[in-house]
Amino acid sequence: MSAPTIAQQKQSFVVKANQPAAEIQPTMWGLFFEDINMGADGGVYAELVKNRSFEFDTPMMGWKEQKAEGSANTVLIHNRMENNPTNRRFARIRVRNEGENFGISNEGFRGIGIKQGSQYNFSVMARQQEGSNTSLIVELVNAKGEKLGSATVNPQGKEWKTYTASITATGTDPKARLNLWAKGKGEVDVDMISLFPKDTWKQRPGGLRADMVQLLADMKPGFLRFPGGCIVEGRTLDERIQWKKTIGDVADREVLINRWNREFAHRPTPDYFQSFGVGFFEYFQLSEDLGAEPIPILSCGMACQFNTGELVPMDQLEPYIQDALDLIEFANGPVTSTWGKKRADMGHPAPFNMKYIGIGNEQWGEQYIERYKAFETALTAKYPDIKLITTTGPFPAGKEFEYLDNTLRSMKQTRVDIIDEHYYNTPQWFRENATRYDKYDRKGPKIFAGEYAAQSVAIASPENKNNWHCAMSEAAFMTGLERNADVVVMASYAPLFAHVDGWQWTPDMIWFDNLSAVGTPNYQVQKLFSTNAGSHTVPVTLNNEAVTGQDGSFVSATVDKKTNELILKVVNTSGTQKNVDFKVDGVTKLNSKGVLTVLQSDNLDQMNTIENPRAISPAQSQISVKNKNINLTLKPYSVNVVRVKMLGMSTI
Ligand code: AHR
Repeated sequence: MSAPTIAQQKQSFVVKANQPAAEIQPTMWGLFFEDINMGADGGVYAELVKNRSFEFDTPMMGWKEQKAEGSANTVLIHNRMENNPTNRRFARIRVRNEGENFGISNEGFRGIGIKQGSQYNFSVMARQQEGSNTSLIVELVNAKGEKLGSATVNPQGKEWKTYTASITATGTDPKARLNLWAKGKGEVDVDMISLFPKDTWKQRPGGLRADMVQLLADMKPGFLRFPGGCIVEGRTLDERIQWKKTIGDVADREVLINRWNREFAHRPTPDYFQSFGVGFFEYFQLSEDLGAEPIPILSCGMACQFNTGELVPMDQLEPYIQDALDLIEFANGPVTSTWGKKRADMGHPAPFNMKYIGIGNEQWGEQYIERYKAFETALTAKYPDIKLITTTGPFPAGKEFEYLDNTLRSMKQTRVDIIDEHYYNTPQWFRENATRYDKYDRKGPKIFAGEYAAQSVAIASPENKNNWHCAMSEAAFMTGLERNADVVVMASYAPLFAHVDGWQWTPDMIWFDNLSAVGTPNYQVQKLFSTNAGSHTVPVTLNNEAVTGQDGSFVSATVDKKTNELILKVVNTSGTQKNVDFKVDGVTKLNSKGVLTVLQSDNLDQMNTIENPRAISPAQSQISVKNKNINLTLKPYSVNVVRVKMLGMSTI
């Protein structure tokens, strides 16, 4: 694309503000969550200790023994799999030589983020062996080993109990460590060694990182899709996510290898496991906190087809279907039901009011259709009102896509409510596909644009950047989604989160380190659209045609019936400053003042970083409106949103 210029071009658009065409679903702009790039463990799950219960493949991964050379003191890993199959291992700290500084140290997730003045809550499950009286000194240290705070816990007796302590940090460091020193002769057993900031989202103990959730809340998302992504399917069927294993006491949630641990040879993450501290209960709770519809996606009995593609035989699909039925009961059932009671026991007697469920993630082939039909029959029989989301695979075109799209649309006996489409493609593809849904069947299934992101280099290339070129091109495409709101009912950028030191996939919507999080330009675009959705689309044309890229202009217009506002989204993907007019028909009058919000950069490579988080951020100004005419000067490479009150209008 060319360098920006200020030569003026004139475009005159016509808006028919009294001709609402489609209702914009409250679900229109939402979130896709997957535990990729340390999005959950090491990310939004605020646990600061890695491998807190020694369940990783290598039990001491993330931990280091601290002792003098030749010391007789030891740490032994015990496995009690017969008694406790979901939390098998614990560590026995054996102090033979009392005088020595001896203990274990945890490195956190690429360090532990500690902030001066903040309180950190430590907990450990522990018990003493016969005749032992060993206390534990908990210590936070910075990367240089200097103390940032400490506390002592004194485990008592032979039964497992949880002991807690809190520490207020005296310094800040994104790469701090946690030390646990053993004092006094004996043998003390430890498990579930945990450290959380006190200030989690909504101050929930053992909760989520407040700064990261706040960025989500600021978007006012319409839905939360969880828990993925390919992670749902698993590399093998054994490694798929099974929601029942993610609820209840966190100590009993079975740790599972993360699918992204070894997915990319160029970005190996051998220390990536799922603790399920964020499990299905927490996803429902987060959806509720955000005012977003919960959209769980479940395995349909097909492991990731980019990996093993394992299939569960049709005659053994029943447990998978039962999981889906039980999940609906867990979310919505009365407290007297088996699964509704489990929800109530976790502190949420009221139903979560789940309305959608996704069957499979990115499946393809006739094996999917076979399995989907079996799910549909069982789900429709018991829960006819729950909307079913089906997949058309990983690509938005091609043989596999066409097979599934045609088959799903032509099935007569099987219900298909919403089809999930994914597109990871070039910025140019996004601009060229703003018309994608113009020709879709208006009476067919609805569309969930469930995963999309412009790739600056190539799909899943580690060189991809969250730059302005990609974000602006997504905005152009999104005007097409909005214009087709009668067909497209949900859309979400993917993936959501990435740790700057622990990612596997780029681009991502929000990047974070251990102390802060930053919304990319793509985040700013998503937020601008989701906080300015409106309730109904209205026609906006240039020479009687929809505005889908003429001279680099992409426009969608909506009205908000509640506030009686006209909302214009105008994307100028050209490198030229433009003067544009909107002639608004169907209103008696517009307010003489409106609000213009602009995202813009002359530099298409511009990104937001932890160091410079607001390089691309919204700039707001007031604009004057004359009669029924809105005149705007559009900067080169800009995404613009105008809101203006409609006064004394004809009926809408
Ligand atoms: O968003 C990253 C991955 O891309 C998702 O897990 C998968 O569904 C898609 O292929």
